[in-house]
Amino acid sequence: MAPAPVRARYTNSESVFKPDIFKGKVLFCTGGGSGICKEMTYAVMKHGANATIVGRKLDRITQAAEELSKGTGNTCIPAQADVRRPDELKEAVKKTIEKFGRIDFVICGAAGNFLAPLSGLSENAFRTVIEIDTLGTFNTFKATIPYVRQSHGSYIHVSATLHYRGLPYQAHVSSAKAGVDALSRVIAVEEGPWGVRSNVIAPGPIAATEGMSRLSVSGTGRSLESLIPLGRQGAVQDIANATVFLFSDAASLITGEALVVDGGLQHLSSSS
Ligand code: HXC
Repeated sequence: MAPAPVRARYTNSESVFKPDIFKGKVLFCTGGGSGICKEMTYAVMKHGANATIVGRKLDRITQAAEELSKGTGNTCIPAQADVRRPDELKEAVKKTIEKFGRIDFVICGAAGNFLAPLSGLSENAFRTVIEIDTLGTFNTFKATIPYVRQSHGSYIHVSATLHYRGLPYQAHVSSAKAGVDALSRVIAVEEGPWGVRSNVIAPGPIAATEGMSRLSVSGTGRSLESLIPLGRQGAVQDIANATVFLFSDAASLITGEALVVDGGLQHLSSSS
């Protein structure tokens, strides 16, 4: 007989990790104005760090920075930049160093996505997502690495699981995220001798995010929850918890890895 469904219990990082593990540290987060990356920033700040959040829309990142500062008691500043433009990223890094004097943690989270079949994807559409996700990660790395070497710091790249197989309508994002995963592994081996770590977090379906609203699953006749072995969709806080772990000293020998946070969905056979 199949076991009765048990939904995985959710807990937050503050009930597991000490409140001050990131005291004196500084986070630089692209895409931090909303969604998953905003929650990742919140959790790192809740454990003592100050932060810069980077985004294209100044009003959005300004409001988010105010919320993050008020909600955590630490300081968050906004820096307007498009990750496709190295000069803008360098300015954002300069602003961070002027304000906080260092960078310990970097989240490469800026991403773009939409559903489109290969046959309907223009060259510019494909290039746009590659430029935001993959080139944007490279540009963020280049702009921050001098400071991350100094602090023996750590990178987290927000990837996905959709490129582990062939997901229809996601050729552009799958290609882009495969590139991000590869970049992270190379950063891990090239920068390891400098004491720098680099890891990927690969979220599965995360409820109430822009990604999910754009990529809703349909046509299976089953609810998403019923497909997930641990019985619930992810919350943004699940990704934040993984972030706190990977940036913490508890993960000091972990680098070049991809931590999948999806309740076991990636392992489900399509015939299940
Ligand atoms: C086909 C599309 C399209 C669509 C845009 N394009 N949307 N093609 N179907 N739905 C094409 C355009 O026609 C254009 O090509 C090219 O892409 C560039 O579009 P622009 O709008 O000019 O570029 P830009 O303003 O830079 O927009 C970037 C964007 C946009 C990513 C394309 O959608 C965006 O800013 N989205 C918001 C961010 C976002 O999506 N966040 C969620 C990330 S979640 P032509 O040929 O016409 O010039 C995520 C999670 C992944 O990434 C994993 C999930 C499981």
